Amino acid sequence: MDTYTQKVLEHFQNPRNAGEITNADGVGEVGNPTCGDMMRITIKVDDGRLSDIKWKTLGCGAAIATSSVMTELARGKTIDEALATITRENVAAALDGLPPAKMHCSNLAADGLRAAIDDYLKRHPTAAEEKAD
Ligand code: FES
Repeated sequence: MDTYTQKVLEHFQNPRNAGEITNADGVGEVGNPTCGDMMRITIKVDDGRLSDIKWKTLGCGAAIATSSVMTELARGKTIDEALATITRENVAAALDGLPPAKMHCSNLAADGLRAAIDDYLKRHPTAAEEKAD
Protein backbone atom coordinates (compact mmCIF):
# COMPACT_ATOMS: atom_id res chain seq x y z
CA MET A 1 0.00 0.00 0.00
CA ASP A 2 1.65 3.25 -1.11
CA THR A 3 -1.18 5.69 -0.46
CA TYR A 4 -2.89 6.87 2.69
CA THR A 5 -6.08 5.16 3.79
CA GLN A 6 -9.33 7.05 4.26
CA LYS A 7 -8.86 6.78 8.02
CA VAL A 8 -5.45 8.46 7.86
CA LEU A 9 -6.86 11.28 5.77
CA GLU A 10 -9.88 11.63 8.03
CA HIS A 11 -7.78 11.90 11.22
CA PHE A 12 -5.37 14.27 9.49
CA GLN A 13 -8.21 16.55 8.46
CA ASN A 14 -10.17 16.27 11.73
CA PRO A 15 -7.60 15.57 14.42
CA ARG A 16 -8.95 14.50 17.83
CA ASN A 17 -7.61 15.56 21.22
CA ALA A 18 -5.02 18.00 19.91
CA GLY A 19 -3.44 20.37 22.43
CA GLU A 20 -1.86 20.18 25.82
CA ILE A 21 -3.21 19.36 29.28
CA THR A 22 -2.24 21.97 31.86
CA ASN A 23 -1.01 20.41 35.11
CA ALA A 24 -0.63 17.06 33.37
CA ASP A 25 0.14 13.98 35.48
CA GLY A 26 2.63 12.75 32.89
CA VAL A 27 4.46 14.22 29.91
CA GLY A 28 6.19 12.32 27.14
CA GLU A 29 8.35 13.85 24.45
CA VAL A 30 9.74 11.79 21.62
CA GLY A 31 11.36 12.57 18.33
CA ASN A 32 12.62 10.81 15.27
CA PRO A 33 16.22 11.81 14.58
CA THR A 34 15.95 10.80 10.92
CA CYS A 35 12.98 12.91 9.85
CA GLY A 36 13.20 15.44 12.71
CA ASP A 37 9.52 15.08 13.66
CA MET A 38 8.59 15.60 17.31
CA MET A 39 5.62 14.69 19.49
CA ARG A 40 4.59 15.80 22.98
CA ILE A 41 1.96 13.75 24.82
CA THR A 42 0.31 14.90 28.04
CA ILE A 43 -1.89 12.65 30.18
CA LYS A 44 -4.21 12.96 33.14
CA VAL A 45 -4.70 9.88 35.31
CA ASP A 46 -7.67 9.33 37.63
CA ASP A 47 -8.12 6.10 39.59
CA GLY A 48 -5.47 4.44 37.44
CA ARG A 49 -7.21 5.38 34.19
CA LEU A 50 -6.17 7.74 31.42
CA SER A 51 -8.99 10.22 31.94
CA ASP A 52 -7.53 12.67 29.44
CA ILE A 53 -4.78 12.65 26.84
CA LYS A 54 -3.64 15.28 24.38
CA TRP A 55 -0.89 15.67 21.83
CA LYS A 56 1.15 18.30 20.07
CA THR A 57 2.98 17.10 17.02
CA LEU A 58 5.43 18.85 14.80
CA GLY A 59 5.53 16.40 11.98
CA CYS A 60 4.15 14.85 8.87
CA GLY A 61 0.50 14.05 8.13
CA ALA A 62 0.94 10.44 9.21
CA ALA A 63 2.42 11.55 12.54
CA ILE A 64 -0.59 13.80 13.09
CA ALA A 65 -3.06 11.05 12.17
CA THR A 66 -1.30 8.51 14.41
CA SER A 67 -1.23 10.99 17.31
CA SER A 68 -4.96 11.53 16.90
CA VAL A 69 -5.96 7.86 16.67
CA MET A 70 -3.60 6.86 19.49
CA THR A 71 -5.37 9.25 21.87
CA GLU A 72 -8.73 7.73 20.91
CA LEU A 73 -7.36 4.26 21.64
CA ALA A 74 -5.83 5.33 24.95
CA ARG A 75 -8.55 7.50 26.49
CA GLY A 76 -10.39 5.70 29.29
CA LYS A 77 -7.99 2.77 29.46
CA THR A 78 -6.12 1.79 32.60
CA ILE A 79 -2.36 2.23 32.54
CA ASP A 80 -1.91 -1.52 32.20
CA GLU A 81 -4.46 -1.81 29.39
CA ALA A 82 -2.84 1.05 27.51
CA LEU A 83 0.64 -0.44 27.84
CA ALA A 84 -0.59 -3.87 26.75
CA THR A 85 -2.75 -2.86 23.81
CA ILE A 86 -1.32 0.32 22.31
CA THR A 87 1.64 -0.85 20.29
CA ARG A 88 3.27 0.56 17.20
CA GLU A 89 1.47 -2.08 15.14
CA ASN A 90 -1.94 -1.45 16.70
CA VAL A 91 -1.73 2.28 16.11
CA ALA A 92 -1.03 1.68 12.41
CA ALA A 93 -3.76 -0.99 12.26
CA ALA A 94 -6.31 1.44 13.76
CA LEU A 95 -5.72 3.60 10.68
CA ASP A 96 -6.13 0.58 8.36
CA GLY A 97 -2.38 0.63 7.81
CA LEU A 98 0.26 3.09 6.68
CA PRO A 99 2.48 3.11 3.60
CA PRO A 100 5.73 1.22 4.38
CA ALA A 101 7.81 4.39 4.22
CA LYS A 102 5.52 5.92 6.87
CA MET A 103 5.41 3.07 9.38
CA HIS A 104 7.97 4.81 11.57
CA CYS A 105 5.46 7.62 12.12
CA SER A 106 3.22 5.27 14.15
CA ASN A 107 6.23 4.46 16.34
CA LEU A 108 6.29 8.03 17.56
CA ALA A 109 2.69 7.87 18.83
CA ALA A 110 3.10 4.57 20.70
CA ASP A 111 6.49 5.62 22.08
CA GLY A 112 5.15 9.03 23.09
CA LEU A 113 2.35 7.42 25.08
CA ARG A 114 4.84 5.11 26.81
CA ALA A 115 7.10 8.04 27.64
CA ALA A 116 4.15 9.93 29.19
CA ILE A 117 3.14 6.86 31.25
CA ASP A 118 6.77 6.35 32.37
CA ASP A 119 6.86 9.97 33.49
CA TYR A 120 3.58 9.52 35.38
CA LEU A 121 4.88 6.39 37.14
CA LYS A 122 8.12 8.17 38.09
CA ARG A 123 6.17 11.06 39.57
CA HIS A 124 3.76 8.73 41.37
CA PRO A 125 5.90 5.92 42.82
CA THR A 126 2.96 4.48 44.75
CA ALA A 127 1.05 3.99 41.51
CA ALA A 128 4.07 2.15 40.11
CA GLU A 129 4.17 -0.09 43.20
CA GLU A 130 0.47 -0.85 42.94
CA LYS A 131 0.96 -1.66 39.27
CA ALA A 132 3.77 -4.05 40.15
CA ASP A 133 1.59 -5.91 42.71
FE1 FES B 1 8.74 11.23 10.48
FE2 FES B 1 6.30 10.97 9.75
S1 FES B 1 7.98 11.40 8.47
S2 FES B 1 7.02 10.97 11.77
